[in-house]
Amino acid sequence: MIKRLFLCALACITISTATADEGMWLPSLIKERIKDMRRMGFKLKADDVYSDKKASLKDAVMQFGGGCTGEFISPEGLLLTNHHCGYASIQKLSSVEHDYLTDGYWAKSRNEELHVPGLTISLLERMEDVTDRIAAGESKEEIIAQASKGKGCRASIEPMYYGNQHYLFVYRVYKDVRLVGAPPSSIGKFGGDTDNWIWPRHTGDFSMFRVYADANNEPAEYSADNVPYRPKRYLPISTKGVEEGDFTMIYGFPGNTQEYVTADAVEYVTNISNPMKIALRTTRLDIISEAQSKDVATRIAYAAKHANIANAWKKWQGESLGLERLGTVAKKATYEQEFATWAADKPQYATLLDSMHTAYEKAIPGYFARELFNETIAGIDLLNFALWLNSQHEKGVKLTADVQNVGRKYYLGDYRVEIDKAIAKQMIGEYVARIPTTEIPVQLTAAIDSCGGVEPFVDGLYNGTQLITKYPLTHDEIFADPMVQLAVWFAPQVAKNSNYAYRNLSNVPSVEKWYRTYMQALREWDKERAFYPDANFTLRVAYGTVTGYENVDGEYHTHLTTLDGIMAKDNPEIYDYNIPQTLRDIYARKDYGRWSIEKGGKSTIPVCFLASNHTSGGNSGSPVINGKGELIGINFDRTWRSTMSDIEFDPDICRNISVDIRYVMFVIDRIGGASYLFEEMDLR
Ligand code: ARG
Ligand code: ASP
Repeated sequence: MIKRLFLCALACITISTATADEGMWLPSLIKERIKDMRRMGFKLKADDVYSDKKASLKDAVMQFGGGCTGEFISPEGLLLTNHHCGYASIQKLSSVEHDYLTDGYWAKSRNEELHVPGLTISLLERMEDVTDRIAAGESKEEIIAQASKGKGCRASIEPMYYGNQHYLFVYRVYKDVRLVGAPPSSIGKFGGDTDNWIWPRHTGDFSMFRVYADANNEPAEYSADNVPYRPKRYLPISTKGVEEGDFTMIYGFPGNTQEYVTADAVEYVTNISNPMKIALRTTRLDIISEAQSKDVATRIAYAAKHANIANAWKKWQGESLGLERLGTVAKKATYEQEFATWAADKPQYATLLDSMHTAYEKAIPGYFARELFNETIAGIDLLNFALWLNSQHEKGVKLTADVQNVGRKYYLGDYRVEIDKAIAKQMIGEYVARIPTTEIPVQLTAAIDSCGGVEPFVDGLYNGTQLITKYPLTHDEIFADPMVQLAVWFAPQVAKNSNYAYRNLSNVPSVEKWYRTYMQALREWDKERAFYPDANFTLRVAYGTVTGYENVDGEYHTHLTTLDGIMAKDNPEIYDYNIPQTLRDIYARKDYGRWSIEKGGKSTIPVCFLASNHTSGGNSGSPVINGKGELIGINFDRTWRSTMSDIEFDPDICRNISVDIRYVMFVIDRIGGASYLFEEMDLR
C-alpha cells in the first residue's frame, strides 16, 4: 500500500513537471525555465543561452532569408541551414550548364563562394520588454527609430499574448551572403514530397553559406573586398551522436502557432478553412502532376511550385486528423465552460466568451473570403501577374518595360500556359461556386453568362490576352487586356481582403482585442498552466529529448534512421528515390571512415533523428543543441501525426525531425569532397 502510494506520488510529480516538451520560450526569460532544462540534462547557464552583455548561444543563431533559421559553425561566418531553405538561392545561381540543384555545389576555395543577390541574414542584437515604455507614453515609432540607428540595424516591436506585452527586437542585417555548398537534390531533397512530413525519414536537408562583412565586421553591400564575418559565438559540432533520452534544445524562429484560441477558432480551421484549402490544392496539384508526368522539362519547371503547394496541403491534412484525434474542439469547449463558471461573478470577464463568439461570427465571412481568394484566384499565375500590374498602377508606379519585366520574371518564369489555363478554369469555377453570389464582381458574372459558362469564358481570356505574347506593352494595351480587366474587376475584393490580412482568424483586430482580456483572465484563472507567447517569427527556445514514439497501436517508431534505410528506398526509376551513384559505391565498399556507427552489429551512417521539441514552420534550419551546447543536428520537419502542434501540442506524439550532424559531415566529406571545410570548424 505504502509502496503504491509512493509510486503514485512519483507518477504525479512526473505529470506535473512534464510540460518540458511543449513551449517556445522567449530567450530573454529563459532563466524561468533553466531549472527544468538542467533537470533534463542541460549543462549550461541561462546567460549562456541568452545575454545582451556577453556572447551567448543566441549569437550563433540567425534568421535566414525571410522564413528560416540558420546557425554559425565557424569563427569565419560559415553557417548551416536546410537545403529547402537554401533552395531558391541555389536555383537562382543555377543554369543549364551549372545545375547546382541537381548536381550539388562545393566551393573549393573562398573565391568560389557564390554571392546570392537579395539573400540576407538577420542577427538578433538584443530584445527588450517595452510594454512599460509604451504604457508610459513612448511611441512605438520613436522606440523603433531610436533602436535602428546602428549600421545595418533593423528594429521591430512585436506583440506577445495578443498585445498584452510588447517586445523590441533589434537585428543586424547582413546582405553579403554566399553559397559555400549544397548536396545534390537527390540527397538534400531525398524522398521529396512523398516523404515530406513523414517518419522514417532519410533526407540530407542541409546547405551551407558564409556571411561576409566589411573590414570592421559590420554589415555591408556585396563587395569583393568584404571579408568573412566573425560571429560573437559559433557552435562546436558534436561527432559523438545522439542516444534516446538525450537533452535537445532548438534555437530558432518559429512562425505561427495559436495555442490559446477558443473552440470557435479550431472549428473554423477543421470545418471550414482546412477542408476548403485541401480540396482546392488537390485540384491544382492533380493538374500540375499530370502535366509533369508527361514531360521532363515541365516536371523541372514546376518542381518548386509543386513542392510549395504540396507542403501546406499535406500539413493541413495531418493537422485536421490530429485535431480530430485529440478532440481539441470538445476539450476547448469544456475548458471554456470551466472558465465561464469561474468568470461568472467577475464583471470584467463574465461576458467575455460571448463577445468573442460574436466577434468570430462577424469576422469569419471576410476572413474566409480572403483565404478562398488566395487559394483560387491567386493560384492563377497570369491573373496574379495582372493583379500585380494593376496594384503597381494603383500605387502610382509607371508600367515601364523594366517594371513589366520584373513582373514577367516573377510570375512567368517557369510557366506553362496550358497548365495555368486548366487551373484557371477550375479555380474561377470554384471561386464563384464557393463565395456568396453578392460578392462576385458583377462584371464577372455578366461575362461568364454571356460566354455561356466558366470554361468558354476562360478560353476567351487566354485567347485574348497579350500578357505572355507581347513585350513591352503600352499602358493602353495593358488596360485593354482581358486578363487585366479581370484583375480590375477584382480590385474591390483585393481591397476588402487587406482588412483580413492577418496571420490567423484570431488576429483580425475585431477578434484579437478580446484575446487581450482573455489572456489576462486565463493567467489569473489557470495558475498551473505554463504560458508562453504564440510563435510570431521571433527568436525562441524549445527543449526536449531525443525520443521515438508510438505511431499507431503496437507500432513504435525508433529515433534514428541510417544509410541502410536510404539504400532500401533507393530506386533509379523513381525521381525522389534515385540517389547519387557515389553513395551507392560508398555503401557497397562500406567505406564510411570516421562517420560510421554500429547498429545491430553492422556499421552504418546515421541520417535523421527524432526529438520531442515543440517546433513550427520557420524552425527549419534551426540548430539542435545538446546538453553541452554543441550542434548535434539541423531541424527540418515534423512527423505526420505532429502537425496539429501549432494548435495543440501532444507530448506523447509530437516529434520534430532533424538531420543528424554526422550525416551532414559525411556528405560534405565523402560526397562533396570538401573536407577542407572541417579545418575551420570545431569538431568534438
Ligand atoms: N515540411 C517541411 C516544412 O514545412 C519541409 C518542406 C520542404 N520539403 C518539401 N518536400 N516540400 O517546411
Ligand atoms: N519544415 C518547416 C519549416 O520549413 C518546419 C516545420 O513546420 O516543422 O520551417
